[in-house]
Formats: sequence, structure tokens, C-alpha cells
Amino acid sequence: MRMYDIILKKRNGGTLTKEEIDYMIQNYTNEVIPDYQMSAFLMSVYFKGMNEEETLYLTKAMAESGEMLDLSAIEGKKADKHSTGGVGDKTSLVLGPMVAALGVPVAKMSGRGLGHTGGTIDKLESFPGFSTNLTPEQFIANVNTIKIAIIGQTANLAPADKKLYALRDVTATVDHISLIASSIMSKKLAAGSDAIVLDVKTGSGAFMKKEADAVALAREMVQIGTNAGRETIAIISDMNQPLGYAVGNVLEVKEAIATLKGEGPADLLELCLILGSYMMVGAGYAKSAEEARKCLHQTIIDGQALKKLEEFVTAQGGDARAIEDPSLFPKASIVMEILAEEDGFVEKIETDEIGMVSLILGGGRETKESQIDLSVGVVLHKKIGDAVKKGESIATMYGNDLKKMEEAKTRFLSAYTFSKTPAAKGAFIKWIITKTGTAKY
Ligand code: URA
Repeated sequence: MRMYDIILKKRNGGTLTKEEIDYMIQNYTNEVIPDYQMSAFLMSVYFKGMNEEETLYLTKAMAESGEMLDLSAIEGKKADKHSTGGVGDKTSLVLGPMVAALGVPVAKMSGRGLGHTGGTIDKLESFPGFSTNLTPEQFIANVNTIKIAIIGQTANLAPADKKLYALRDVTATVDHISLIASSIMSKKLAAGSDAIVLDVKTGSGAFMKKEADAVALAREMVQIGTNAGRETIAIISDMNQPLGYAVGNVLEVKEAIATLKGEGPADLLELCLILGSYMMVGAGYAKSAEEARKCLHQTIIDGQALKKLEEFVTAQGGDARAIEDPSLFPKASIVMEILAEEDGFVEKIETDEIGMVSLILGGGRETKESQIDLSVGVVLHKKIGDAVKKGESIATMYGNDLKKMEEAKTRFLSAYTFSKTPAAKGAFIKWIITKTGTAKY
């Protein structure tokens, strides 16, 4: 077999076999096939596409290019959730304890953030002492005893995807639905859960800005997951404004705790109830999403989910006293109100820009090596449709560097557009995509 022939076949619109795809991925991972040939292949896929089988073979080959997590030592079916990323998305911190409180094993691998705000791992490290470096034995033991453990992504998880993603980034081949779907799903398949719930975001703060693209991506990911034998479902949720009000690591952890206490924002709770319901149905712990939703809501009402967070943080070496005593979290030295410059209603928020505010303050990584400041960020007071009076605070910003805060403030104000009449709010949960089809939520 020769890489030249594989490139030629795809360039001419042919369909690749499993053997050809396996050969290509194995030899690319082992550095036998050079980047220049793989670049030509990626560009051929960009223009000629891949069919359902080819996409599945590519995903599996990438998943199997490194360690496939074996979760069989964990009792019961395992459920995982993946978000395509957004601003203020602290869902895992709320959802994990809720689902685990009902006895559903959550064995999760999460990433650190790049750009915007931190990832789940960064947020969890807001708890002093919290460690995501568990040995595989500790990881499995924690899930068996308290039903939840979250660790960082191991270096050997889908290494072919890591190499390919870096190459796509510099060859203008990132934005292709089948390549994105196979990249995300290769990591999910390697991470070992039986049921996968995907939260695909759309809007100004999402990777997929257009709703039609988000639906297309979700469909392909559900198809891959289903064809690979995992119960997979996707929802499309709105990211035209941040999720909840808090953006920035410690601030988001505090909002997650408030949500577990029943005092959090409605959109965040709603998203957790929906994603959690499908995790439970997918892994076979509930007969219907309605039944699961009631049970999940009850974990907030009776405090079981909050207790689970405490157990989880303690089990991974974190100081869970911070749940009741927020002064134990890293604290910003400067607090600044951002005041509205006109009367009106919030019409639009450039959500990516709110993420940039957090980045400028030091809450996100500009490069993989950047150190992040967990204490900084912004808490919105006004979201789309809300009335605003000139001089009223629309957000509170937390930082440690006045110069950066002045820059962030200008950026924040230019992200907001006001109108004279209240703007209509679009649906928050837009679509649900299962193996049998796509339906309006
Ligand atoms: N995230 C991924 O993991 N892969 C992509 O291709 C795009 C976003």
C-alpha cells in the first residue's frame, strides 16, 4: 500500500477502504507518512468529503492510535458528556455531581482550556489542593466508591488526532464537518464510556456559529457514536450569550456551587437537567427523560448533589470547605463595575468577545504554556432582553492588573448592542438529535 495511491484515490473522489485508512493513520502516527502527504490527503477530504463508513473508520483508527481506556473495572454502565465549548460553560461541575448522586458512574476525562476561559480541569483546580493526576487504579476506585472522578486527558489519548489537528490548523482544513466530528468522537470513543451525550453549541460564542452547521456536526457525531456501538445523543444549545452569568474560573465554580444549592441561573440548571436526563436514559438508568429529570432535580432540592460535590472534591485532594467558605478560593485584588452608557434593552452580545475579556484579564491561555489566573473574570448583570438604565452596572469585573482591566472594559462594552425595544429571545435548547432523527426541542 502507498500513501500516494490513497491521496490520488481521494483526490479523484474515490471511497477508501478500512485497510487503507488504518494503514494511513498507523503510519502517520509512527511518523512514516510525512506531514506533506497527510496535508494533501486532508485537502482532498476537504473538497471530496468522506462517506459514513470512511468517517467511522477514520474515527476508530484515530481512537485506537493510542490507549483505549478500559473502564470495565467500573461497575455499571458509564455515561459521558461532551460540550463543543462556549463561554461560561461550567456544566460539568454541576451535572457530574447531580448524575453521580443518583448512582450513575461518571468517569470523565476533561481538558484544560485554550483561549477564552479555562477548561473543566482549570476550574476544578480553583479548589486548593485539587488534583486531576490520579493513577488509573485511583480513578477506577473513586468512581466505584463515590461514582465520580475527573482526570486530565492523558498524553496517549488518540495521539493521531493530536497530530492531525495540529496539521489541520496550519493547512486550512479545520472547518470540515466530517474531520471535526471524527476528531471529537475519536477522543470520546477512546475515553471508554458506554453512553455519550453531546452538547453542541451554536451562536456568537460557539465553535459552530451557524445553527445549520451545528446540526450537521451533531448528526455526524451521533452517527459515528451509534455505528461504534455507543448510545449517543446530541442537543443543540444556544451560545449567543454566555451560559449563566459568570465567566472566569473561580467565578464559574462559585456559580456552579450556587446552582447545586438551588440558587443558580435558570439556563444553566435547564441545560444540566436535559443533558443529565439523556445521560441517564442512554446508560440505562431511567426509562424516560421525564423520569430522569425529576430525579435529577430532586438531587438539588434535597442537597444530595451538593454533598456529592463535597465528596468528589475531597476524594481528589481538594479543600471542600471552599464550598461553604468562598474566601478559600483565589481572590482578585481589584473589583470594577462596568456601567451602561445609554438607556435601552440588551439586543445582542458578541459572546466570543466576553470570552476575550476573561482572556485579557488573565483567565484564559494564549498558548498551551500560559499560566492562568484563576481569580479573574466577569459577572454579567444583564443578558439579552434585559432593560438597562444609563449609569447602571451591567457587569462586575474582577482582576489583578488595572491596565488590563481598562482594556477589558472597553472590549466588554463594545460586545454589547442595545435597542430601544426588548429583543426577542431565541430558543435556548434548539434541537435534539438521536440515531432515529432530528427533532425540534
Ligand atoms: N475540537 C476538536 O477536538 N476537534 C476539532 O476538529 C475541532 C474542535
